[in-house]
Amino acid sequence: MELAAAGVSKAFVTKGGGHLVALAGIDLEVRSGTFVSLLGPSGCGKSTLLRILGGLEQASTGTVAGTGATGATGGRRAFVFQDYSLFPWLNVLDNVAFGLRMDGVGRQERTDRARAWLARVGLAGFESAYPEQLSGGMRQRLSLARAFVTEPDVLFMDEPMGAVDPQTRLLLQEDLIRIWEETRKTVLLVTHSIEEAILLGDRVVVMTARPGRVKLDLPVELDRPRTLATSATPAFSELRSLLWDALRDEVERSMDLS
Ligand SMILES: Nc1ncnc2c1ncn2[C@@H]1O[C@H](COP(=O)(O)OP(=O)(O)OP(=O)(O)O)[C@@H](O)[C@H]1O
Ligand SMILES: [Mg+2]
Repeated sequence: MELAAAGVSKAFVTKGGGHLVALAGIDLEVRSGTFVSLLGPSGCGKSTLLRILGGLEQASTGTVAGTGATGATGGRRAFVFQDYSLFPWLNVLDNVAFGLRMDGVGRQERTDRARAWLARVGLAGFESAYPEQLSGGMRQRLSLARAFVTEPDVLFMDEPMGAVDPQTRLLLQEDLIRIWEETRKTVLLVTHSIEEAILLGDRVVVMTARPGRVKLDLPVELDRPRTLATSATPAFSELRSLLWDALRDEVERSMDLS
């Protein structure tokens, strides 16, 4: 097991001094080399759960084990967020090479590996550009290259494609499917898109409205390699209906909460 949460709850102290329970009793196991998509209404605690599993935040109760766990050693993590988290003062090549530099990888190898990943995400030729000179889709490709280049054991992605236009997003999804099928990293992906969750995932986990619990854990048994055409198959439609049925009540409930 690469990652495991058992009975994980999280309460935040609010400005008024009260408590806001974001997560309640989450049990989730992620096997090594699998891609797990996480769906749930806004505010249900998806990002909080990802941050806890990634070791960026502490659970209030329960235990977290594996690569991401706070205090665990050896495991390597990488994060991709919606806001790209790029360094504006570094050019494209140095953004990708940065993590390798932190790992003590020598200059020549850093450059070679960064260039290879830039080529893989379609950014060859942009090495000396700066992030502000790139489109949203290109920045997201850059973020992916930066996450994959360090060869992490687990990748945590929180709505990585939330900020790009729908067409670019489809292309990015195809890129991510291809890269994942080549590398088979352990991935936890938070998304608001049912289609994206199915297309990429080996499993789709649906969370309830706050406090977030696991409502449904659905295996996605669609053949790989997958492409965008996979989303036109009857099996895909069936999964989409099942997920939407599970999700719609929670979205309605979360609207009552807010
Ligand atoms: N640091 C914090 N302090 C107080 N409350 C917080 C904090 N972080 C998150 N929350 C609250 O916890 C709940 C869950 O937040 P979280 O960001 O995990 O939801 P989410 O499912 O990722 O939502 P979205 O889909 O909108 O990104 C929300 O009600 C949020 O306001
Ligand atoms: Mg979030």
